Amino acid sequence: MVSNLVNGLNPSATVEIQETLAALTAKGVDIVRLNAGEPDMPTPPHIVEAAIEALKRGETRYTPASGIYPLRQALSKKLKEQNNLDYEPSEIVLTTGAKQAIVNALLSVVNPGDEVIILTPAWVSYPDMVKIAGGKPVMVRTADDYQPDIELLRASITDKTKMILVNSPNNPSGAVYTDENLEAIADLALERGLWVLSDEIYEKLIYHGRKHTSIISLRPELKEQAIVVNGFSKSYAMTGWRAGYLATTKDIAKASTVLTGHITSNVTTFVQWACIAALEGGEACIEDMRQTFERRQLLIEKGLNSLHGFKATHVDGAFYLMPDVSALIGETVGGELILSSKHLAKVLLDQAHVAVIPGEAFFAPGTLRVSYAASEQTIEEAIRRIAALLNK
Ligand SMILES: Cc1ncc(COP(=O)(O)O)c(C=O)c1O
Repeated sequence: MVSNLVNGLNPSATVEIQETLAALTAKGVDIVRLNAGEPDMPTPPHIVEAAIEALKRGETRYTPASGIYPLRQALSKKLKEQNNLDYEPSEIVLTTGAKQAIVNALLSVVNPGDEVIILTPAWVSYPDMVKIAGGKPVMVRTADDYQPDIELLRASITDKTKMILVNSPNNPSGAVYTDENLEAIADLALERGLWVLSDEIYEKLIYHGRKHTSIISLRPELKEQAIVVNGFSKSYAMTGWRAGYLATTKDIAKASTVLTGHITSNVTTFVQWACIAALEGGEACIEDMRQTFERRQLLIEKGLNSLHGFKATHVDGAFYLMPDVSALIGETVGGELILSSKHLAKVLLDQAHVAVIPGEAFFAPGTLRVSYAASEQTIEEAIRRIAALLNK
């Protein structure tokens, strides 16, 4: 029998959809995919070369659980120069993707029954990660423009609240929280003595002149009750390499190191050396990818807003849009009476062969998550297919 803990978790909706798509593709169905959660570009060659060099040099043994010192030193410099954050190498821990950083952070801070506030729409894994740590996820919705509703957030805090989880730029909404909203969250956390976990994995994917701000840089005193999570997956097109990190207080960094020591030992050794090359290789490769996403963002926003019943709010980050499709619920699409956004996503897949993820997976019913980690041609084809289905 599976344990009560695992029985209480939900399978990842995005992973399940991948399986459905693989089965359809195997049957020869030509699917246009706007469901991806990862950049569609290859890892920049200088990073790949650095990994190969490290392997040839024999970087194939265990490292300290927190990661090799030169990488933590490079991250300390990056956090200072790019994010205006002061973290010493001893306050930084490498993890197997940002995923492990978040789980480590939660396991290190949360006690059974503690509440963790998650703003919705939210990434699929957050509530289950909180449950793994024995905590209780408390879902608090954002406003129509996907910015935090500070009053609702304040009203959701109880004497059990331990932490607020902040993710800007946001998966799945693409929203970049304003500095005013980040300041308001930081002040609330300081006033109520709450931890803030800031997941900044999409920091480099930000458009139209917006700049990423780390919430902790706005209120440096928050550092004593904060964890910054970041990684290499999205910024450097390195999802399969599994490298992330957290920066936090000495105590939590130590706790996270103990966990890693027991669970994974360390991030793959030659990958850590490649991460140094990523950090030291300049921003040109990142900027190229960013500009590509920026062009696609405009294209897809316009395309989605041209569709009957779709309303996509303008957002400036990540590689997702979350159009409101609630106007189509109760209408007939492709001969089917649409009952929910989940149902609409199924009809789009079955009849237009376009894959998107229903907002229900991200605690935002009435919406769809549309990814533009896909070529302009793919985006145009998807819009054409959906338009044809809606106009049938
Ligand atoms: C918001 C958010 N945080 C964290 C992660 C995890 O990234 P990693 O590949 O570094 O584990 C993802 C990946 O989809 C994400 O969307």
